[in-house]
Amino acid sequence: MSLLEGKKYNIITFGCQMNEHDSETIAGMLQEEGCTPVLAKEESDITIINTCSVRENADKRFFGTLGQLKKIKEKNPEYVACVCGCMMQQQHIIDTIKSKYPWVDIIFGTHNIDSFPELLNKVVREKVKAVEILEDRSDIIEGLPAKRLFRHKSFVNIMYGCNNFCTYCIVPYTRGREKSRKPEDIVAEIKRLVADDVKEVTLLGQNVNSYQGVFSDGTGCDFTDLIYLINDIEGLERIRFMTSHPKDLSDKLIQAFADCDKLCKYIHLPVQSGSTSVLRRMNRKYDREKYLNLVAKLREKVPGITISTDIIVGFPGETEEEFEDTMTLVDAVGYDSAFTFLYSIRTGTPAAEYDNQIPEEVKHARFNRLVDAINEGSAAKNAAYVGRVEKVLVEGQSKKDESTLTGRTDGFKLVDFPGDSSLIGQIVDVEITEGKTFSLRGRIVE
Ligand code: SAH
Ligand code: SF4
Ligand code: F3S
Repeated sequence: MSLLEGKKYNIITFGCQMNEHDSETIAGMLQEEGCTPVLAKEESDITIINTCSVRENADKRFFGTLGQLKKIKEKNPEYVACVCGCMMQQQHIIDTIKSKYPWVDIIFGTHNIDSFPELLNKVVREKVKAVEILEDRSDIIEGLPAKRLFRHKSFVNIMYGCNNFCTYCIVPYTRGREKSRKPEDIVAEIKRLVADDVKEVTLLGQNVNSYQGVFSDGTGCDFTDLIYLINDIEGLERIRFMTSHPKDLSDKLIQAFADCDKLCKYIHLPVQSGSTSVLRRMNRKYDREKYLNLVAKLREKVPGITISTDIIVGFPGETEEEFEDTMTLVDAVGYDSAFTFLYSIRTGTPAAEYDNQIPEEVKHARFNRLVDAINEGSAAKNAAYVGRVEKVLVEGQSKKDESTLTGRTDGFKLVDFPGDSSLIGQIVDVEITEGKTFSLRGRIVE
């Protein structure tokens, strides 16, 4: 019997889908050891905090949560406090944890989540602490278990890491260089998921367009080839992917939207800025014109496609004029939704060293203007859905009200509508009755 049998765990996840998916893997491994999940850290024997180095205030919230673990540990000396994820790939963070948060028992990084069960067993058995971080690795670990957050949809990593080194971004340092999984491994994983009731997969990578898989016989497989392969998997209903880098969005991929019936007509295409000079300083490798051309091409070849983006406000040296370029680009594209970020310094990145940082109050004022414009745009887009019938994959019941179901349209819009839980996992026709800023309301069409 495993030493961990019967122990209760909870995982607190910050950050993007990569981290969410890593947390699913950590949960899968713990359940194989006989552990059971609980919601509150106060009730658990093991807490894992999976950290992010990018998202707003994720670092401050992390240290706040870490502080709270001290009390739990004082009450229960057997309690195991674990931290992992992107922040652990930064040495200054590990140093801070060791000096200021000595109650942490296990620290591991993004490249070795597979070794967590072994570390945990060792810590419980020998009552020691463990720190294990790898700089990067050349291989990909296959076959780790995962405990899915959703029954009918799943993330599937197709590649790891990033080679782009945008000057503001820490991800290439925390996730290492690009590595693509074998197409056969990806297809086999999706077939297993489909056999286990999954209807929709989201292919994950920091820049999925630069996926470069190699079949066992040595032939190459690019991202679009992979989509065509996955589109043939019987029983699968929907394919999504994220994130796409505009510099690598090929005509071949745009064509795949037209050819592949399972590929959802939705793209997350981070622009970061509407100003060509800022984009150059960000090392994004495309300019405003190229981005707008891509959007025009997508809209022409894929009628009705929905588009979302990421935008950073207040990159070092951003002038009023450069910010206006972002405002006019937002207007020209007409995004369905957008994640907006206040530029924040990430130690170790080139932009952190730039001496023309933008004052906080200027950043905030620009940010508020941008968010208002984006929200207005989203509300107008959503209002235009009223009266349309959309195919919705029913994901579950609303947390507030059991008689309300929630799901997503093909274009990734969140919809709620009255209905019975027996429909969960099915794709139903929903007539949209109301368009709000962040979601739609509707009713099932019989
Ligand atoms: N690989 C993806 C996104 C990775 S990080 C891509 O290239 O689009 C997610 C988002 O965080 C980025 O798109 C960017 O908008 C934002 N971001 C990254 N570093 C940031 C920083 N230092 N300050 C503010 N926002 C940042
Ligand atoms: Fe960061 Fe740029 Fe890589 Fe995205 S493409 S993860 S923003 S370096
Ligand atoms: Fe954050 Fe790491 Fe994702 S830094 S955004 S969790 S890749």
